[in-house]
Amino acid sequence: MSAGADAGAFPYATVVAEFHRTGKHFVADDVLDLLNRVRALTPQTGETRLLRNFLDITLDKRDGRYDYQSYLALHLLRMPREESTNERRDDLRRQHDRLFVHLIADALAFELAAQAGTTDLLPLQRPGPERVAKRYRLGLRVMSAALARQGQSTTVHPTEPADAVAVLHAAVVEDQSPAERRELLTAMLPVYVVHDEYLFIRVLQAYEATFAMLAAEIRATVEALTDGHAGAAADRLAYGRQLLNAAAPLFSLIATIQPESFRAFRVYTEGASAIQSRSYKLVESLCHPPEEKRLSSTAYLSVPEVRDQVLAGQPSVAHAYHEASRLGRLREPDRLLLDRRMGEFADALAQWRQTHYRIATRMLGTRTGTGYTQGTSYLAAVRSVPVFTAADNARRS
Ligand code: HEM
Repeated sequence: MSAGADAGAFPYATVVAEFHRTGKHFVADDVLDLLNRVRALTPQTGETRLLRNFLDITLDKRDGRYDYQSYLALHLLRMPREESTNERRDDLRRQHDRLFVHLIADALAFELAAQAGTTDLLPLQRPGPERVAKRYRLGLRVMSAALARQGQSTTVHPTEPADAVAVLHAAVVEDQSPAERRELLTAMLPVYVVHDEYLFIRVLQAYEATFAMLAAEIRATVEALTDGHAGAAADRLAYGRQLLNAAAPLFSLIATIQPESFRAFRVYTEGASAIQSRSYKLVESLCHPPEEKRLSSTAYLSVPEVRDQVLAGQPSVAHAYHEASRLGRLREPDRLLLDRRMGEFADALAQWRQTHYRIATRMLGTRTGTGYTQGTSYLAAVRSVPVFTAADNARRS
């Protein structure tokens, strides 16, 4: 590796292989020193952005900046960024679907390779064939909506999910650009060498893609309401609810992680918790501004950028809805439609929280979280955070 060299010629695969050999937590100091020197010699320009991001992510533990964003290498993935204009709406949705499929197809391909004995990546605690077959089925199911929107189907013969995965993965790879392949390669930096951490990382990344897309849909909902387009606002909410529901099998996938494997790698993920997920908190705060108590708790102190936006008066669906009502801009049929869509979205998010709580309880028991909360008691309490208004919680309880 030549320090300060042409960013395009950087040997990403060699560095990633070295990280995979030991897990990020155990990478040798001399390797980190070398990466640090390369970073010092790499100027910050548009052309070196990818390399700089990669180096920051590989050096996060050494720098004392390790967190959820760097663990999942979120800056290396082309997440659907928030966008409000209709012209780009379909592009963003396609981008989400594409990334979502790439992540899950890649996770399943790793399972295939491990079963076939063609990889020695993350060799500890390989799962048995029945567990893996379940992963194939769930993985194919969770991709089906995104694939259908791309005009592909995942009709699977129930006894041959492995074949279906192999065929699908080959087609996905064939269609990928070199940049997309590099994105997947560089955004897989497990902290240890336990097999199941691969699935854990890909599932979290896939959920992040969905939350990022949801944040875009909800922001567009606010704008549509503000501009007096109640029908468009209702459509955005409906699409968001569909996405959230379609992603639900991700929880079933993560539930196939072997508890002993989870316990083995989680020792080294301390400090990285989804409580730091910006997209999730954006979705929440764009629906309804958080109460002061939550805004000043770990929930929002863990996402300072989002907290600042809220404090700066970020608009929300709840606010835009009340304003439109107050100004007499909502015709009765529009109001009824919006109420229905808001209720459905709130139900989908409440269901997400409930399932997340159940999985976390199963995996963690009474252990504390990696985001410095009490763990499941925190999650039990946040299930009742209002989605749009206090009224929708009252309606459900
Ligand atoms: C093995 C599975 C999982 C366990 C044991 C687990 C556990 C936890 C715990 C204990 C917290 C509280 C914060 C902390 O101290 O870390 C938390 C928060 C959170 N988790 Fe998970 N989680 C799991 C899977 C997931 C998945 C797949 C997602 C999807 C992205 C996710 C998203 C979140 C979010 C967004 C929060 C913040 C919630 C809030 O602040 O209201 N978790 N999780």
